[in-house]
Amino acid sequence: MKHTTEIHRINELLKLNEEKSAFLDDSVSHNPVEHYYSASIFEREQAAIFRRLPQPLVHSSELKEPGAFLRRTLAGLPLLITRDADGHVHVFLNVCRHRGTRLVDEQSGCKHRFTCPYHAWTWDNRGELIGVPHQKLGFPDLDRAQHGLKRLGCSEFGGWLWVNPAGEEAPDIPAFLQDYAPDFSWFGGESLQLLHVEEQTREVNWKLLVEGGIEAYHFRVAHRNTIAPYFFDNLSSYESSGPHLRSILAKRSMADLRTQAEADWQLRDHAQVVYTLFPTTQLLVQSDHIGWVHFEPLSASSTRMRLCTLVPANRVETDKDLAHWAKNHAITVKTLSEDFEIGESIQQGLRSGANEALNFGRFEGALAVFNQQISDRLSPE
Ligand code: FES
Ligand SMILES: [Fe+2]
Repeated sequence: MKHTTEIHRINELLKLNEEKSAFLDDSVSHNPVEHYYSASIFEREQAAIFRRLPQPLVHSSELKEPGAFLRRTLAGLPLLITRDADGHVHVFLNVCRHRGTRLVDEQSGCKHRFTCPYHAWTWDNRGELIGVPHQKLGFPDLDRAQHGLKRLGCSEFGGWLWVNPAGEEAPDIPAFLQDYAPDFSWFGGESLQLLHVEEQTREVNWKLLVEGGIEAYHFRVAHRNTIAPYFFDNLSSYESSGPHLRSILAKRSMADLRTQAEADWQLRDHAQVVYTLFPTTQLLVQSDHIGWVHFEPLSASSTRMRLCTLVPANRVETDKDLAHWAKNHAITVKTLSEDFEIGESIQQGLRSGANEALNFGRFEGALAVFNQQISDRLSPE
């Protein structure tokens, strides 16, 4: 983010605060409750969004060494992700090309070859088939080159590995991120290290979870026992670039900037900057670290999440730093869990008949923009 943009956004929020106003869209909007529980809408989202758009699945610090591998799932696809001896990353379907067994069971580790647990066909970490027991007898005409592991396209950008679920083509991430591509340098994505991870599965539609991160209307109430005292009540702004959103949730300390020179203003120190990278990623940029939430929609009413704390890689040595990060990770998990519990409570009432639609106020405009991005992509039933 350019410093002039930081100054502009801070001034905008300070002015709204002075006027006792909020960042307002022109009108309220509504989203039918069916969008959050319909199995057929979920299937259309799966086909048109989760199986189509590139998503950041791994921070590069999780897959640093040659020979490192990880398992992940993306939109129901079981993946094996490897880094070869030359430092190149590969993403494969974690499925044996003989009779379809899951090739690798371990979640992560270091290996240069993978042997299927059923009949021991073996591939190297570039996906080449290198071993078939009794091949001459059983598969005399087998062309090994045609039986490499099935590959998905991937690119490393900004500190993350982005996977294309739709095919072998490497995704063009700067083009996909549009105006927000340069922000990965601004918040130092490549110099981070993933330090803490927590996984949760919640009985809630993925959209309710994303929506919980892009308005500050709920802070004073839902987060009264955690982060609310640090933030202004209902003071946030948002903008979009392509399908992505950048929201700025103002902290009370922003008011102190009024007496300081604009040249010294640092947005990160006085706001939480939330990137909602369409469709399933949120980056919560804090003053000295980043929370990364990856949503993995499992069904219309179930979502698995990975909550990660990423910190500057040069600040993981001292006990003092490590204690600081552990404390911050715990606060993030506790705060997000407050949101997730509310999400589950919404999910449980969706079919009650109380509401035909959920209501988004003028200061909840980011939710309408996010949902519009989804509607635009879904083919008609
Ligand atoms: S199913 Fe993998 S080697 Fe037979
Ligand atoms: Fe929240």
